[in-house]
Amino acid sequence: MVANVARLKAGILISGRGSNMQALIEACRAPRFPAEIALVLSNEAAAAGLARAREAGIATRVLDHRGFGKDRAAFERALTAALEEAGVEFVCLAGFMRLLTDTFVDRWRDRLINIHPSLLPAFRGLDTHRRALEAGVRLHGCTVHFVRAAMDDGPIIVQAAVPVLADDDEARLAARVLAAEHRCYPLALRLAAEGRLAVENERCRVAGAPAPEAALINPPPA
Ligand code: GAR
Repeated sequence: MVANVARLKAGILISGRGSNMQALIEACRAPRFPAEIALVLSNEAAAAGLARAREAGIATRVLDHRGFGKDRAAFERALTAALEEAGVEFVCLAGFMRLLTDTFVDRWRDRLINIHPSLLPAFRGLDTHRRALEAGVRLHGCTVHFVRAAMDDGPIIVQAAVPVLADDDEARLAARVLAAEHRCYPLALRLAAEGRLAVENERCRVAGAPAPEAALINPPPA
């Protein structure tokens, strides 16, 4: 019999549709995946991701930030309390559209990760695909990183680059990046759960990862 190794208990914070949350939930279904989802928490009661999580049999909570007025600290204390109550050890932000203060970030330091739809540090903030098209970059992508209090900042864990194609509009580019997000986020959670990530001098080292073989060149050389 295979020993039942404890899996890392992860919590996911969402505000919307929850497709990255779904990718994490699906990854955790694999018997050998080293993490499990203990709680999905949303600041929006209407977030479509909540229904998806419930359908998957995952515990959910709603903590509406509006109920806390301007008291960010109280909202974040409630978030941490809900996560602790569910036994959460590691937190994944998946389209969670609230900025978090130092207090929350410090409580979960190096156990709090985020996915962002650009190759950070390019295009922090919103409307990343529109801005990438406007800038004329030929490679765009996504980033999973440890969270720091500054927006979309922190040691980078995984990045995927995707090409920007001639007939791209925002929707087509977003869909290509999103498909990459759904591969990157489970990979980052796996690496964290396997204890293969170390933050030193605000850079993330990944233990035991092979070097990628090729450059992604756009347009491709003949
Ligand atoms: C994702 O594209 C994620 O990278 C982005 O929100 C979307 C959520 O989609 N996050 C940010 O922009 C954070 N700065 P999802 O709810 O379907 O996962």
